[in-house]
This record gives sequence, C-alpha cells and structure tokens, in this order.
Amino acid sequence: MKGVILAGGTGSRLDPITRVTNKQLLPVYDKPMIFYPIEALVNAGVTEILIVTSGPSAGDFLRLLGNGEALGVTHLNYTYQEGAGGIAEAISLAQPFVGDDRMVVILGDNVIGGNIVEPARRFAAQSRGAKVLLKQVENPTAYGVAELKGDRVVRFVEKPENPPSDLAVTGIYFYDAHAFSLIEQLERSDRGELEVTDLNNAYLERGEMSHDVLEGYWADCGESIDHYLQACNLVATHGANRTG
Ligand code: G1P
Repeated sequence: MKGVILAGGTGSRLDPITRVTNKQLLPVYDKPMIFYPIEALVNAGVTEILIVTSGPSAGDFLRLLGNGEALGVTHLNYTYQEGAGGIAEAISLAQPFVGDDRMVVILGDNVIGGNIVEPARRFAAQSRGAKVLLKQVENPTAYGVAELKGDRVVRFVEKPENPPSDLAVTGIYFYDAHAFSLIEQLERSDRGELEVTDLNNAYLERGEMSHDVLEGYWADCGESIDHYLQACNLVATHGANRTG
C-alpha cells in the first residue's frame, strides 16, 4: 500500500500565521506538522510516500524532508497541485504514483495520538473499496460527518448545518485504485472543489465503503487557531503516534 499526504491548501483559517508558509510546515509542539502524518504512515508499515503540495513554499518540503530517510521513509515523492481544487483533485494527482496499488491518504494537518495499524490491516483484508476512520467530536459542523442507520453509514455530509451525528470523518482515508476513475466522474462543488466527501459517497453507493472508529485522540490543526493550539497541547501532554 502506498501513502499519500496532502499538504497543500491556503490555510486561510489559520491566517495570518499561514500567510508566508504552508500550514503543514508550522510547528506542532516540537516538530513540523508534516512529520506527524509521515510518522503515522511509517508506523503502519507504509514507507512509500507521495507528498502533494501547493503554493509558494512548496520547495520548503524538500528542504525539510529531503529523501525522507531520517523519518523511515524508503521512497519519498513530491508533486504539485495548481490552485485550490480540493482534496479529491489532490488525490487524483497521485495516480501515476499509486498505479494499481492501494493507498492510504492522510491530510497533512491531521495529528493522531495512536496509530492506524489495525485499520490498515482490516483494509488490506477487504477485497476492494474504501475505508474511512470516524471520530466523535464536539463540533461536527466543521467536518465531513457520517449519517448512520444502526451500525451502517448511509451517507456522508460535508460540514452540515444540522449534523446527523457527532461522528466526524477524519482526514485518514483508505482507497483502492478505483478511486481515480470515481474522481473523474465527480462534479465540482459550489466552492469549485472536487470534494472528498463526494468520493466517499460514491464508494458508499457502490456498497464498497467500510468504517472504523479511530482510537486515541484526533486533532485537525487546520480547523481553527484554537484547534491548532489544542493539538500542540495534546502532543506536549500525551505524545503522538503511539505504537503501543
Ligand atoms: C476536510 C474534509 C472533511 C474532513 C476534514 C478532516 O475538511 O473536507 O470532510 O472531515 O478534512 O480533517 P477541511 O479541514 O479541509 O475543511
């Protein structure tokens, strides 16, 4: 399985600290934000990684990470997203890298307390399709949210005004290579983006979407300055990417 880290976007919700750099280069406690998703992948045995970035600071990822060896990455690749076309568009740029393999996609501003070893194992046992990781949150209106009937997810809704549950879709997604043709069929949303939520709904409609609930804390640093601060405090207090 290949790893894809999305490290683009404008970081507008963290303005002005993102005005001259990508948010994923900012520190979270004692390390640059991008180190955390890389570590999460390496912990799960995913060591071939593509970083999709954008913006004028894109070159700083190369300066910071080099070939990734110091973080346990065996092959570190980079690609560039023009403009802000959305998460699903960024994923489509990974096609030449992923080929017919499977991928785990992590948003570069997501930090986790635990690991994704078990979900990755369960996804590997799945014959096809996708898996999302859900997490109970206090502010579901800020995320993609799962609507459930019993244990079954029936729909994903992006940043709903009236959330159907408090289970957010975290920025950790497992996909088979079929994702690329599904993304080609997506239409741009009102904000002009190809939405990851639409991709997830496409898998759901095919009956090929599973979910797990993520264990340990989950922090989306880009959600707001308060969440960013909270993420720094969580890492300082509890550590991150625990393997045990
Ligand atoms: C994105 C996704 C959203 C998901 C979130 C997780 O939102 O669109 O579905 O819940 O990441 O971090 P963003 O944070 O880019 O607004």
